[in-house]
Amino acid sequence: MDKKITVLRGDGIGPEVVGEAVRVLEAVGKKFGHNFEFTYADIGGCAIDRCGEPLPQKTIEDCLAADSVLLGAVGGPKWDGLAGDKRPEKGLLGIRKAMGLYANLRPAKLFPQLADASPLRREIVEKGIDFVVVRELIGGVYFGAHTTEEVNGEMVATDVMPYAEHEIERIVRVAAGIALKRRKKLTSVDKANVLDTSRLWRKVAHRVMEEYSEIEFSDMLVDNTAMQIVKNPAQFDVVVTENMFGDILTDEASMITGSIGMIPSASLGDGTLGLYEPIHGSAPDIAGQDKANPIGTILSAAMMLRYSFDLAAEADAIENAVAAALDAGLRTADSMAPGCTLVGCRAMGDAVVQRI
Ligand code: IPM
Ligand code: MG
Repeated sequence: MDKKITVLRGDGIGPEVVGEAVRVLEAVGKKFGHNFEFTYADIGGCAIDRCGEPLPQKTIEDCLAADSVLLGAVGGPKWDGLAGDKRPEKGLLGIRKAMGLYANLRPAKLFPQLADASPLRREIVEKGIDFVVVRELIGGVYFGAHTTEEVNGEMVATDVMPYAEHEIERIVRVAAGIALKRRKKLTSVDKANVLDTSRLWRKVAHRVMEEYSEIEFSDMLVDNTAMQIVKNPAQFDVVVTENMFGDILTDEASMITGSIGMIPSASLGDGTLGLYEPIHGSAPDIAGQDKANPIGTILSAAMMLRYSFDLAAEADAIENAVAAALDAGLRTADSMAPGCTLVGCRAMGDAVVQRI
């Protein structure tokens, strides 16, 4: 198989973690006889520095022309002073929108090797953590109007949170499709006791789910969900929610698995073109020090093989190699535990490559 992959390294630890994922993809290509061709493009702060904008047109073209896109992370203190629409994060939001990637899949799965790194008590962790959050990615308050204006002598800021029925329907269908392949349980998360967008969300979700009688379907308010994720995460299989709730809940969901550095994500639209990125940020405090955990990005590459290229055996090979490296006791600083061996980003990448 010949595949074109556009690589957006981004800022902070982005280049380091992406570098390891690319090496892992090369090892998989070699072993299984595929040819992955990598094209590099700028996004975020590095694009601002080089081209004066967080998402150059050339980057959009390179992403749309590719079979898939791998991304590191964007942002950092250097660009924090910029206006909202000039910030590195705008590049990430822009590429998600330009590629039509409305469905963001974020698995929260505990590696048994990392059980001790979870901040939850052992008896909660032992019941198992294995759920997927399906986050709506190109709607809601992230993409509504943002204004800041002076009213009666003080500044007033407003962010609008629109949702149309078709945006809700398509994401609920994606989540239902995933639930069908898993334990057939779907929780739709909203704030229907306060928000109109949530009341519409709930109505549309129920209408769509009438077609999926084999799925156990329920609603949960977002504040209660935040509580249930730490109280009893084993109850969840697939969770579907709007953009900002999903942003917040997936940081929480990843942390209980031991480290946010381990969690991959896939952003998908209607076709096979997807964007794959770890859910962690650019971690400027440890950038360039060979301390970052590349596993979230390496597992994102595995998701790319599975979802965009339909290469299940190859994806398994990556996931098994990661598990084997953890079994060997190797840990980066974020998930270090007593009795384990502390390694850097590069050495963790090496360890996975060797086990492909
Ligand atoms: C994420 C990040 C982004 C988001 C930021 C960097 C814009 O937090 O992917 O979760 O809020 O979507
Ligand atoms: Mg986030």
